[in-house]
Amino acid sequence: MYETIKPLLFKLEPETAHHLAECLLRSANVCPQLLEFFLREYYVTHPILNQELFGTTFLNPVGLAAGFDKNATMIRGSKAMGFGFSEIGTLTPIRQAGNPKPRLFRHIAEESLQNAMGFNNDGLFLIERRLQKYYPFAIPVGINIGKNKMTPEDEALYDYTKLIRELHRYADYMVINISSPNTPGLRDLQNEQFIAELFSRAKELTTKPILLKIAPDMECSQAVDLTAMAVEKGADGIIATNTTVDYSLLPYPLDKGGISGRVLQEKSFAIFDAVAAELYGKTTLISVGGIDSAHEAYRRICAGASLVQVLSALIFKGPSLVRDINLGLIELLKEDGFVSISEAIGSRR
Ligand SMILES: Cc1cc2nc3c(=O)[nH]c(=O)nc-3n(C[C@H](O)[C@H](O)[C@H](O)COP(=O)(O)O)c2cc1C
Repeated sequence: MYETIKPLLFKLEPETAHHLAECLLRSANVCPQLLEFFLREYYVTHPILNQELFGTTFLNPVGLAAGFDKNATMIRGSKAMGFGFSEIGTLTPIRQAGNPKPRLFRHIAEESLQNAMGFNNDGLFLIERRLQKYYPFAIPVGINIGKNKMTPEDEALYDYTKLIRELHRYADYMVINISSPNTPGLRDLQNEQFIAELFSRAKELTTKPILLKIAPDMECSQAVDLTAMAVEKGADGIIATNTTVDYSLLPYPLDKGGISGRVLQEKSFAIFDAVAAELYGKTTLISVGGIDSAHEAYRRICAGASLVQVLSALIFKGPSLVRDINLGLIELLKEDGFVSISEAIGSRR
């Protein structure tokens, strides 16, 4: 079905296509028949894929990465696309428009995206009301938070702590995003002083797990040092990675924003693998970046990922990708003689 509508969708501006998809997925909130149809088509679960994590049950390990459902309008829709969990956001305390359009671009031949969105989102007030309305959710939900563009770096801590305080009750886990390339100065917060202060304050506010999402644009050794320090300071997990600003990965890059999708795959895996070599068994790891098949998802799981996330490949392959990853994982797990995904996590370390 997606292959039929894809040429039409790809004739539209990427953001317009996204709005259309959002309209369809939002209708899952009010039309149970549509939800049922999509669930039958795309949602896969099997005892071998089930795992207990963050105090809840994940029925499959494939999640929707942050940035697709920035405003928490598509949680049911995400399950309808087959996802086992969803990470909403990045959201900020105050509603903001993000960077000027156009700010989202397809590199079709490379099955990659380039985005300079800049945390466009409805803000805490509206999103909290939405979460309240739909809680408890159809699937586990992570809440990914960031600072407003106008918040100076030395006041950033206040933005993060405010969001944790207001939203933690709705989250199965929360994510500190200091790795987007599209908010000036944000990545400078990937430093020991900020991370130490943030996690020490966060721990006073909630018992929910708080994870740190990192950028891929650093040496592996730096990523290991940064994440090990974050875990020492209280992070409950690491999500690797966000988009990259390594424009050499694309033949015709634009000179703004972060790159995701197939061209990010190896870079993202390299960082994840280095981090997992140090932290597997000590904290929970989530792998994201260029995952576009069951084999790639399985590679991340065997390297130490408890969960994986997908965004760009969903745009190029449609929701059947999520079903295919889950069905493929069931086969791969059985082939290797595992009776549960938990046994496979980190099995190649
Ligand atoms: C359009 C778009 C918007 C994104 N917005 C966010 C965001 O708000 N917060 C965040 O942490 N990551 C964001 N990301 C990064 C993704 O969550 C993910 O880390 C990255 O795209 C790599 O995964 P992929 O190759 O499967 O797309 C965004 C990515 C895209 C393509």
